[in-house]
Amino acid sequence: MAAVRDLKAAEMAAHGGDDAIELGKRHLIQPWPYAGSVGAEARALIGEGDGIYITDSTGKRLIDGPAGMWCVNVGHRREELARVMYDQAMALSYNTPWYTMNAPSAELAMRIAGHAPGDLSHVFYTTGGSSAVETALRFMQFYNNVRGRPEKKLILSRGGAYHGSTYLSASLNGRPRDRDWMDGADELVIKLSSPDPFRRPHGMSLAAFTDFLVDQFRDTIARVGADKIGAFVGEPVQASGGVVVPPDGYLKRIRQICRDNDILYVSDEVVTGFGRLGHVFASGDVFGIDPDMITFAKGVTSGYFPLGGVIISERLLEELRRSNHPDALFGHGLTYTSHPVGCAVALKNLDLLEQGVLAHTQAVAPYFQAQLKTLEELPLVGEVRGVGLMGCVECVADRESKDPLQLDKDVGKRIDAHCHELGLLVRPLINMCVMSPPLIISREQIDDMVAILREGISRTMDDLRKEGVWRG
Ligand SMILES: Cc1ncc(COP(=O)(O)O)c(C=O)c1O
Repeated sequence: MAAVRDLKAAEMAAHGGDDAIELGKRHLIQPWPYAGSVGAEARALIGEGDGIYITDSTGKRLIDGPAGMWCVNVGHRREELARVMYDQAMALSYNTPWYTMNAPSAELAMRIAGHAPGDLSHVFYTTGGSSAVETALRFMQFYNNVRGRPEKKLILSRGGAYHGSTYLSASLNGRPRDRDWMDGADELVIKLSSPDPFRRPHGMSLAAFTDFLVDQFRDTIARVGADKIGAFVGEPVQASGGVVVPPDGYLKRIRQICRDNDILYVSDEVVTGFGRLGHVFASGDVFGIDPDMITFAKGVTSGYFPLGGVIISERLLEELRRSNHPDALFGHGLTYTSHPVGCAVALKNLDLLEQGVLAHTQAVAPYFQAQLKTLEELPLVGEVRGVGLMGCVECVADRESKDPLQLDKDVGKRIDAHCHELGLLVRPLINMCVMSPPLIISREQIDDMVAILREGISRTMDDLRKEGVWRG
């Protein structure tokens, strides 16, 4: 122990923070680490951001392909956002949400409710997406307890889903690998199929696939009992699962089944919210559904401040107010609920979205999709898909078998490494590259991005051929 302490003291004296890569390797635990390298890993060190670009520690400028983690929607280095955070911190840096409130959070809730579909009227703020999903689920449990339905707590989720890294939200996750070594509240969750058209059974039409998904949903409720199921949680477009755009009409049909069975529909818009599909929320404006709750985070502040939240239906709140248990306590709150700095920057971010960024996204998205689609010419690419300014290039060993893994365990990482050299940060996901650039990206910048990705994939194909891993 003394030796570790001496080392720490020597480090602090020597570095003063100048050798961040080395310090990170010794003292940081990165998210999603492997046991064999936990606490001993350095990742690309990013020093600056500006618009759609970030600069790494070697001075290389990169297009920020994933916009951070699907979040830097209005781009890096927006002075308006920095200034509003400074001004709010100087006016009021924090207030306790237990006994007091602040104006930015109330104004933001009003504006968010104004953009939300149906009767979603009230916002509970959290610190990010996981805590937003967690809050929605705890609210569902509370709601059913107060209504005298304590058995109605199970949650429907789907393969390919990602809903967070807190215990309950993570229990909903359905991507391969995520849960192999992790525990979860499995007894509370029922997993259904991912609505992934690319992975539908060979020879099945899209219409038949949609029917299959809907029947599975309905049959599961019939088997388990609607009186046992409290909520369905779903991303309108499964983001981290590989930008899975569901077949037309699927979400509307699921929404109706939930309504018919008194199951709360929670639309997880942590990625799709705040402009990614050209609208503040995609549930209503893109998919025509009015959920009981919408969870959001990320783009609400364009990543400038950790903030998330749940928008809750007026109907549910009214039921609670009128219930026989006016003294039932929703024992749930976070120190940073309704943070004034987060809400102030979110208000300014929403101004930017409303005053041009949403319209720009709508204008540029078809071009983004069309250019990305040209990558299907490459034999390693099985499918390019997407909507709005989110896209995915899925690589497969061959298009017939669509096998992603015979190729290599981490083809996405190989592509990312080449693209990094060429000036583009990619979000690699096993055999997929996910692209979700800042929404302010121009057509010329889309051309640059796609050209680099094309070259990165071509170089990867060369590598795989040389290594004899692939014969495409
Ligand atoms: C759809 C979705 N929900 C929830 C989360 C969790 O959000 P956070 O990482 O802010 O806790 C994510 C994160 O990527 C997400 O994509």
